[in-house]
Amino acid sequence: MALPLPHTQVAIRAATPEDLPQVLEIESLAFEKHWGPFEFKASLEDIFLVAEEPAGGHLLGFIVACCCRLSRRGVILRLAVHPDSRRQGVARSLLEAAFEELRRQGLSEVVLDVDVVKGGARKLYEEMGFQVAEVISLCQEDEEESFYVMRRPL
Ligand SMILES: CC(C)(COP(=O)(O)OP(=O)(O)OC[C@H]1O[C@@H](n2cnc3c(N)ncnc32)[C@H](O)[C@@H]1OP(=O)(O)O)[C@@H](O)C(=O)NCCC(=O)NCCS
Repeated sequence: MALPLPHTQVAIRAATPEDLPQVLEIESLAFEKHWGPFEFKASLEDIFLVAEEPAGGHLLGFIVACCCRLSRRGVILRLAVHPDSRRQGVARSLLEAAFEELRRQGLSEVVLDVDVVKGGARKLYEEMGFQVAEVISLCQEDEEESFYVMRRPL
């Protein structure tokens, strides 16, 4: 199993238009239902962070979040790490950086949805302080159609 990367080996920064080809590649490896260039271009206006190797500029993963000022909540919309770089703490670093940015914007809570079938992602979020607030089932017989709404104070 891969050893955790020390934080100094993961540089977190705001995404730029030049990152989109690598982001789209990671997206295609991480999800069945993909976001396309339109969603990622629009996300450049929001909190859109990438993790990269400081030396090579090679992207390891990304996170997209937005701010709902009315409810004073942040929403994590997308999080993915390249399959070759998983279980090394990259998602943890991306989440911590997104929390910091959401706090900087004066928000007090962060929420996200995670599919019930994604047990690994749920474990990650619980480790990062999220708790299940609600279970939504779109189809009673099919677990693949169910997801958790998770929340965490900032
Ligand atoms: C979920 C995902 C973002 C995790 O990224 P990652 O960089 O591998 O996560 P981290 O290394 O920061 O994991 C931190 C902890 O979360 C838990 N965790 C993460 N992935 C896990 C998995 N597949 N199974 C079990 N636990 C997992 C572990 O406790 C891990 O700590 P450990 O490695 O010391 O045991 C990545 O697997 C991914 O991109 N998956 C596909 C896209 C996806 O499902 N995104 C989330 C949608 S809601």
